[in-house]
Amino acid sequence: MIDSSMPLHGALSQNSMSDSCNEGASVQAADTELTLLQQFAGAFIQDVNLGIMLLNNQFTLVDISDMACRVMGWERENSLGRRVNELFGDMPTEHHLVQRSLLEGVSVRNHAVSWCNGVERYELLMDSNVMRDEQQQIVGAYVLFKDVSNLRSLEEQVQRSDRLAMIGQIAAGTAHEIRNPLTSIKGFLQMFKKTLRDKGMAKEVHYTEIMLTEINRINELVGEFLLLSKPKHVTIERVNVYQVMNDILPIIRSEAVLHGVHVRYEAGETVPNVVADRELLKQVFINIAKNGIEAMVEGGTLTVSVKRDSAEQRVLIDIHDTGPGIPAFLVDKIFDPFFTTKQNGTGLGLSVCQRIIHDLGGTIRVSSKGFGTTFTLAVPYQGS
Ligand SMILES: Nc1ncnc2c1ncn2[C@@H]1O[C@H](COP(=O)(O)OP(=O)(O)OP(=O)(O)O)[C@@H](O)[C@H]1O
Ligand SMILES: [Mg+2]
Repeated sequence: MIDSSMPLHGALSQNSMSDSCNEGASVQAADTELTLLQQFAGAFIQDVNLGIMLLNNQFTLVDISDMACRVMGWERENSLGRRVNELFGDMPTEHHLVQRSLLEGVSVRNHAVSWCNGVERYELLMDSNVMRDEQQQIVGAYVLFKDVSNLRSLEEQVQRSDRLAMIGQIAAGTAHEIRNPLTSIKGFLQMFKKTLRDKGMAKEVHYTEIMLTEINRINELVGEFLLLSKPKHVTIERVNVYQVMNDILPIIRSEAVLHGVHVRYEAGETVPNVVADRELLKQVFINIAKNGIEAMVEGGTLTVSVKRDSAEQRVLIDIHDTGPGIPAFLVDKIFDPFFTTKQNGTGLGLSVCQRIIHDLGGTIRVSSKGFGTTFTLAVPYQGS
């Protein structure tokens, strides 16, 4: 029925002229060959690290590889023999990875798609085509895909670094030019404020206070810009992560109280010192903890833990919140400069953190599955 059976069919028809004894033997040989081929196809479909789906012309799933089951979030036993559109459940049709139009001959080659099975997100490279019988009638279709998530995230990381480098260049060039006039505006405003206060003009004093606060905000923003363009005055020293945590816990706790959040600190066994800039490390922990606290709008628990990963010679810092989590389609964006979902956010917090941790040869990973978010920072140490 399917094209791939053609050689076998050919072998059978060649023997059709032989005598009945020969015919019996060759049919038996062909049967053995067919069984072997079927066994091979079965084993191949199970073991291969490729997504494979075979459909018949009723849009029913005839076979599926284990890897495809994993990516689709389906169970082989429960999905075979079912209509493909049914298998996608409540998902809107336009988001189905496999579309019915496939059976109308709409084939694709190396088509890049993002797919989320509700738990994990994958970047796939997909091929699909119809299968035809000898009369060129469509009898089914196949879908093949490779998981290229790692390649894509590498590519995105390179693009992100390029963007950061560009922003850094612009920032370095303009930051000082912005700060200098700001300093004189701030100085004069402080003078005005004093004069206005002396004259008892309370309302005007209040206005100048607002202006001063806003100027401070611009100053902070420019400061973050400068950090993005690679910190200039970094003091690299041996730093005890526990000590850094102890220094900043009061800051985190006071921020938490304002948001009705409870802070839990889990310090494990002692960890080796890391080589880093203490102040920058503080900034990273505070930024990530602050994000967690801000995410828990209805209160919750922020859990900070520090432990040692001896196998990889790293100190691991987990910052977990019980907030709503980060939707899968946003996870890749949160480290982008200026990406924010907050009304008053700059969207620079995480990109600055990532820059600082990468400069230390470390990594920041985020895992957010449905409920709550964990940021895991890994900072390498040398020796013990
Ligand atoms: N723990 C978290 N839970 C849910 N969403 C988060 C969490 N951490 C970060 N995010 C998302 O990532 C976005 C980017 O975070 P980032 O720290 O870079 O900027 P921001 O917090 O929006 O602004 P800023 O840090 O300048 O105040 C946030 O706006 C938020 O949508
Ligand atoms: Mg932030």
